[in-house]
Amino acid sequence: RVHRIAVIPGDGIGKEVVPEGVRVLEAAAKKFGFKLQLDNFDFASCDYYEKHGRMLPEDWKDQIGKHDAIFFGAVGMPDKVPDHISLWGSLILFRREFDQYVNLRPVRLMPGVPSPLAGREPGDIDFWVVRENTEGEYSAIGGRMFAGTEREVVVQETVMSRVGVDRVLKFAFELAQSTPKKHLTSATKSNGIAITMPYWDERVKEMAKSYPDVKWNQFHIDILTAHFVMNPDKFNVVVASNLFGDILSDLGPACTGTIGIAPSGNINPERKYPSVFEPVHGSAPDIYGQGIANPIGQIWSGAMMLEHLGESEAAKAIVTAIEKVLAEPKLRTRDLKGPANTVECGKAIAEALA
Ligand code: NAI
Ligand code: MG
Repeated sequence: RVHRIAVIPGDGIGKEVVPEGVRVLEAAAKKFGFKLQLDNFDFASCDYYEKHGRMLPEDWKDQIGKHDAIFFGAVGMPDKVPDHISLWGSLILFRREFDQYVNLRPVRLMPGVPSPLAGREPGDIDFWVVRENTEGEYSAIGGRMFAGTEREVVVQETVMSRVGVDRVLKFAFELAQSTPKKHLTSATKSNGIAITMPYWDERVKEMAKSYPDVKWNQFHIDILTAHFVMNPDKFNVVVASNLFGDILSDLGPACTGTIGIAPSGNINPERKYPSVFEPVHGSAPDIYGQGIANPIGQIWSGAMMLEHLGESEAAKAIVTAIEKVLAEPKLRTRDLKGPANTVECGKAIAEALA
C-alpha cells in the first residue's frame, strides 16, 4: 500500500508542527507496513505570495489534485498579507474545488488537558461534529437594496439542495453506525427557520430509515449549545448545517481544552478529490520561531488522514500514543504548562508509537 500525500506547511508554526506530523506518520508507516510518498509544496503561504503575487500557482490543481490527501499546516501572516487574501486564495479554494463537503472534528477530552468544564474526566467527552461544508447559510445569493438610505434592505438566502443535504447526512449516519454507541444527533432550528430547517429535518428522518440500527435525536441549535457545555457526555455524532456546524465545531473543542491539540478534516468522502487534514489552530505568529508550538493538533490530523486512507489501526495507535504522551507532565508543551518544546513532544509521540 502506497499513499501519496501532498505536504503543505504554509505559514508560521505550520512550518514547525508539520515536520512533527510527518515524523509520526513515518513512524506509523514503518510500524504498520504501508508506504508514504510525501511531496512537499511551498505554495499556499505568504512567502510564496510575496515572491509570486498569488497564493497558488496557476496549475495548482494539476500539482496536488491527484494526491490521495493533503497534509496542511496553517496559512496566514496578517502583517504581510491580509487574511482574506491568504485564506480565500488557498484553503477556501481547496474546499470548494475539491468538493470537501464534510468538515469533521473530533471532540475528545484528553489526559493532561484541563477542561474548562468542571468535574469532567478523560473518557467522559468523546464525540464527533460533522459540519456541512459547501452550501446552506453560506451562500452568495442575496443583495442590498436602497443602499445608504433609510429604506436599506439586505437579504441573504440559505441554499439547501437534496444532494447537498443527503450526502452529508449519509456521511454522518455511516460514521454513527461505525461507532459502538450508534447514536446521532441532528442540529436544527425548525421552530424559527420555517422553510430550510424543516426540510433538513425531513431529510434526516428519511436518511434514518436506511440506518435502522442507529438511534437518533434532534435539538434546536440554541439548547444544543447549552447541552454541549452541560451534558457533553450525551453525544456521539452530531451533524449540522454549515452555520450551525461552524459554531458547534468551535464550541466542542473549546469544551475540551487547548486549541493546540484540536484536529480537523475537510473531506471529500468519495475520494474523487483529495481531502485536506489540518489542525484547527492557525499560524500563531505570536509564538512562531520559538519552537514551542504544540504539535499535537497536527499529529492528530495525521491520524484522521490515515483513517480516511483506510489505515484504521495506525490511526488508532497514533491517538493512543498522543494520550500516553499527554499523560506525562514533562512531555507537555508550554500551552499545557509543560517544559517540552515542539520537537521533543513530536519525538515522544513517534517513540510511544514505535
Ligand atoms: P491562531 O490559532 O494562530 O492563534 C490563537 C492563539 O492560540 C495564539 O495565542 C497562539 O499562540 C495560540 N496557539 C495556536 N496554535 C497553537 C499551538 N499549536 N500551540 C500553542 N499555542 C497555539 O489564531 P489567530 O492568532 O487568530 O490567527 C493567526 C493567523 O492564522 C491569521 O492569519 C489567521 O487568519 C490564520 N488562521 C489560519 C487557519 C488555517 O490555516 N486553517 C485557522 C485559523 C487562523
Ligand atoms: Mg470557525
